[in-house]
Amino acid sequence: MNIFEEVESQVRSYSRSFPTVFTTAKNARLQSRDGQSYIDFLAGAGTLNYGHNNDHFKQPLLDYIESDGITHGLDMYTGAKEDFLNAFNDIVMGPRDMDYKVQFTGPTGTNAVEVALKIARKAKGRTGIVSFTNGYHGCTLGSQAVTGNKGQRSGAVVSLPDVTRIPYDEYGDENDDFMGLKLLDQMLSDPGSGVEVPAGVIVETVQGEGGLNAARMIWLQQLESLCRKHDMLLIIDDIQAGCGRTGTFFSFEPAGIKPDIVTLSKSLSGYGLPFAITLLRPELDNWEPAEHNGTFRGNNLAFITARVALEKYWQDDAFSNEINEKAKVLETRFQRIIDRMDVPLTLKGRGMMRGISTPDGDIATAICKHAFANGLIVETSGSWGEVVKCLCPLTIPMDDLKQGLDILEDAFEQVLNKKQAQAKAS
Ligand SMILES: Cc1ncc(COP(=O)(O)O)c(C=O)c1O
Repeated sequence: MNIFEEVESQVRSYSRSFPTVFTTAKNARLQSRDGQSYIDFLAGAGTLNYGHNNDHFKQPLLDYIESDGITHGLDMYTGAKEDFLNAFNDIVMGPRDMDYKVQFTGPTGTNAVEVALKIARKAKGRTGIVSFTNGYHGCTLGSQAVTGNKGQRSGAVVSLPDVTRIPYDEYGDENDDFMGLKLLDQMLSDPGSGVEVPAGVIVETVQGEGGLNAARMIWLQQLESLCRKHDMLLIIDDIQAGCGRTGTFFSFEPAGIKPDIVTLSKSLSGYGLPFAITLLRPELDNWEPAEHNGTFRGNNLAFITARVALEKYWQDDAFSNEINEKAKVLETRFQRIIDRMDVPLTLKGRGMMRGISTPDGDIATAICKHAFANGLIVETSGSWGEVVKCLCPLTIPMDDLKQGLDILEDAFEQVLNKKQAQAKAS
């Protein structure tokens, strides 16, 4: 038994799918201790959009540490925080005509979600939140309550109250595109429905953990209108789909909507360092000092790498264009896999947040296992783990992208052919 199995909790999960010891990594490649090189189509579940140990960020980080720059400063003013805020203002919010306050939350995504929910409830003086089927928002109690997945929810072992769940875009009746929103509108308009007007609605534009369900722009626009009609705050959880994953810095930009609250984390630091923020409209900023607190609000090392990431990748459209080009390659190759197989497969997601839905979780797991044996790290998502999900670094070199896709195509072929041969034989 190794030290991990002996000492680490059973709760470990990714290490079960990729049972090797990783030692070093660069951009889209990880090396294991036994000398294997793996192409990374998982990228820290969307945390390494700029790749592992990106050289643009590494030296500024080392310089900062070398100069004894502040590493921990609670939420005090630091030079590193000042530079990050200036960059976020000038490069992200200014050009997009966004007017938000930036709240530094605890360092993980779920902290940003908890803050978003608190802000909405506090601002409206109401307890209810609407969330969507297959949404995933984190593992602390508030976030867990708005999460759909049974397995994730069951870890709470307390009630997860004050949430009304509504069908996400294209969930349920395939003849009624807007079923969830119509239902919500009707229930909120009907004093007999038993549904009270909630404080806000929390939604992912592409459901990462929930199976790469991508909401249509028209659906997002209608959701925004519904929020305005019924005086609910619109919270976009952009923790996984943001920071360029779908081609634009924020995933909701193509919809032209203006959320009241936005959560960001994962790739925000650029370097895999824990860092999360919640953006809130200035008029929602009704906190008393320390009313929401936390020792690790604002990670100064992350301020350095996050600032350089914005300066390096988001000053112009070049990076967006590069993402969109790679997204086209992904789409074409995934479509080819789908067309070549006799089993029903569906293309999922948007931008560089893409995957293929297979008939069941066993098939998707077998495909990922086969891919890993051949040097590719790729995971599943969805209610039954039925979607093979590709979240490679956005900076992945084209050669690695193509090689990873070759391995994936071979895995689909081997697993599905074997499955068909077994079906014929029985
Ligand atoms: C959309 C979304 N929200 C929130 C979270 C929670 O983030 P964290 O795991 O950093 O708490 C995740 C994590 O996968 C996520 O995908």
